[in-house]
Amino acid sequence: MQADGALMRAETESEARLVSVLDTAVDGILVIDERARILVYNSACERLFGWTAEETLGQNVQMIMPSAYARAHDRYLDNYMSTGERKIIGIGREVHARHKDGTEFPVELSVGEAGTPQGRQFIGIIRDLRSRREAEQRVRELQSDLVHMARVSAMDEMGAALAHELNQPLTAIMLYLQAGARTLQKGRDAKSDETLASVMNKAVHEAERAGAIISRMRQFVEKREPNRRRVDLNAVVEEAVELTLVGIRDKVNAVRGYAPNLPQAFIEPVQIQQVVVNLLRNAAEALRGRPNPTVTIETRMTGDMLAVEVCDNGPGIPAESVPDLFKAFATTKRTGMGLGLSISRTIAQSHGGDLSVHPGGNGRGACFTLTLQPATADDA
Ligand SMILES: Nc1ncnc2c1ncn2[C@@H]1O[C@H](COP(=O)(O)OP(=O)(O)OP(=O)(O)O)[C@@H](O)[C@H]1O
Ligand SMILES: [Mg+2]
Repeated sequence: MQADGALMRAETESEARLVSVLDTAVDGILVIDERARILVYNSACERLFGWTAEETLGQNVQMIMPSAYARAHDRYLDNYMSTGERKIIGIGREVHARHKDGTEFPVELSVGEAGTPQGRQFIGIIRDLRSRREAEQRVRELQSDLVHMARVSAMDEMGAALAHELNQPLTAIMLYLQAGARTLQKGRDAKSDETLASVMNKAVHEAERAGAIISRMRQFVEKREPNRRRVDLNAVVEEAVELTLVGIRDKVNAVRGYAPNLPQAFIEPVQIQQVVVNLLRNAAEALRGRPNPTVTIETRMTGDMLAVEVCDNGPGIPAESVPDLFKAFATTKRTGMGLGLSISRTIAQSHGGDLSVHPGGNGRGACFTLTLQPATADDA
């Protein structure tokens, strides 16, 4: 790279001064003529594109464009010169640039135009967007980590209930195996073989039940790249209901009302399950010690959106809590983090939907509605 940045052939003192000013700019600045030849190319451009000013001055600006743009550029410039139709001049937008080593990267390009005695010239100001893109990517990763952490923590809190639920099939398996062993001890005949087969089948069935509980849990806490798919919303919701009811089946009644023939949803199933799990756990916590504790889970279309509604017959939410309900760390629970609803709304909105509340109160329970867009034809 050249030390002086030699961005244009300075012939006068004022041009030399201009050169040194342009060289102090953080953004890439370049000027081209009507035939796309580079006339000015500052130091920032050298850093950005890897070419020296020496190598670029007088060359077609295509050399710093990805080949797809490069091919179109001359045509575009000709078109502009003859029709005045603007695609970028005076507008500015995000495009891709190409480094000397062939790598392509995002830049923000704004283009101005000047009339000079030598004809029209175009001034481009180029800002490197890589670090901004990296920061955005990092925020996305952190957000996804947080959402994942919340899932692990929810599962952690449900751990005792889950262990309890797992204990049931394990106990049953043990009893079936003991019965089998006793049958064998008595000596074998056609009848004992039949008993044995039946007992073994029952044990297998219980083992499958335990396996299903564990695999559902594992899927829920597993860390995966978020991957949206076309799915049947009812099936996704039912899995979440099953997962939450594990161990609290005897403490709340769950009433399901799933609309048949819903259009498919285009979602990350585990994240949507996370929302339903959060809503159900909140409902179950609000119902603790209440008479006839019941939560209803319904799916339906509202307008052109899919909706999942989770309502309970608990005390409802006091009016003064409603404004902060979806904010992080708003909790009335001794051990609550106050993250459930805030994360749930983030998930809903990142899916192009939303999460809203009818707070109830005065003898009516709370009702939460999650809306989601149905899958479109393009959602692969
Ligand atoms: N169904 C409900 N009935 C009554 N109050 C509710 C209901 N759902 C939520 N709330 C209130 O909203 C507050 C915030 O809920 P949120 O799920 O965000 O956090 P949390 O349940 O307190 O903690 P976390 O979910 O992080 O364990 C709760 O503390 C509770 O006061
Ligand atoms: Mg909660």
